[in-house]
Amino acid sequence: MLIVNIKEIFSSDIADGWLRADGATGLIIAMGPMDTVPAPEPGEEVVDARGGYALPSFCDSHTHIVYAGSRHGEFLDKINGLSYEEIARRGGGILNSADLLHDTPEDELYEQSLARAREVMLKGTGAIEIKSGYGLTLEDELKMLRVIRCIRRAVPMTVRATFLGAHAVGRAFAGRRQDYVDHVCREMIPAVAAEGLADFVDVFCDRGFFTPAQTAQIMEAAAPYGMRPKIHANELDVSGGVEVGVEHGAVSVDHLERAEQPQIDLLAKSATVATMLPGASFFLGMPYAPARKALEAGCRVALASDYNPGSSPSGDMRFVWALGCIKMKLTPRQALDCVTRGGAMAMDLPDHGVLAVGTRANIIVTCPLPSLSVIPYQYTTPFISRLILGGKTIKEYEN
Ligand code: NIG
Ligand code: FE
Repeated sequence: MLIVNIKEIFSSDIADGWLRADGATGLIIAMGPMDTVPAPEPGEEVVDARGGYALPSFCDSHTHIVYAGSRHGEFLDKINGLSYEEIARRGGGILNSADLLHDTPEDELYEQSLARAREVMLKGTGAIEIKSGYGLTLEDELKMLRVIRCIRRAVPMTVRATFLGAHAVGRAFAGRRQDYVDHVCREMIPAVAAEGLADFVDVFCDRGFFTPAQTAQIMEAAAPYGMRPKIHANELDVSGGVEVGVEHGAVSVDHLERAEQPQIDLLAKSATVATMLPGASFFLGMPYAPARKALEAGCRVALASDYNPGSSPSGDMRFVWALGCIKMKLTPRQALDCVTRGGAMAMDLPDHGVLAVGTRANIIVTCPLPSLSVIPYQYTTPFISRLILGGKTIKEYEN
């Protein structure tokens, strides 16, 4: 496929350019300025971008889109003033989703989750991480991870799977948190690894959930199986999750709404990606993570959706991009880099999130626009003209 008349190929220095994608390998094979545009190969599809931008498709490195039903009842509790933690203490929250998931057959869970995967793909996401963590029993965690595997096979997005058995203490272990952690380490992790179901391991390391010591125990149990850590940290408190995550070579530490300068400094010196989830801050009314400070300190920063039924019921990465600008005070280009290249780094996908020769041809061709800033500025106006994944057109939009 040859795409011509591109206003700018983000983030190359090519303005008014062309790009060639190969549907067989799924890669970008050439690009350049329009005065060097080659003749199409016989039978090659030519796409006229009409002065639209070519952007890498979004890389959403933190989601929980495999869940059953909905938690709209808690939405009312929230409106009436209950906090996320109060809802969780009443047996709502994650445990509520675990009960729903337990009662939902695997094929139904798959259908519901696949619909969400398709929804976010058509909003421009080309690579996505999906976590377990609403199972909280061996059987139900495996059920979730198998559903993620089926989604991976069904969609043209790149899908990475994360085992989050330690999202909350399963009901059977109520009041016995350490016993549950031991169960995660001794029973769940080996079973997940035996089926090759997870790329990463995650722990909700925060006040009222799991301690840094328990997080370390779980990361160490998963390491021999090649499951690298991605840790929930500093959402509810300065939890120690950043420190223990960095120490164990975490690919990313995520949330960071309460992160302070020492955590930022530590991340800046490490290869761990600082992943921030402004959709959760928006939905729960929490502080926004210090994205700008982190970038200025030299951290690698990703912005992700955290799409889940409790704290961020949206996987719209364009909205995340807009929140990055409006609430976190990043420039449109900085925030775009965080929802593409940053997310790719947080999923350990070095050939994603950038448009360059040899990288994955996951491309959003935008409508003709006067400036890139229009996308996060006019943040509900449709902006995609064509979505290309793996060098193939997935959808043409009537925008
Ligand atoms: O990333 N913080 C922990 N886990 C999710 C929320 C899960 C839920 O409430 O269902 C999050 O925000
Ligand atoms: Fe999360």
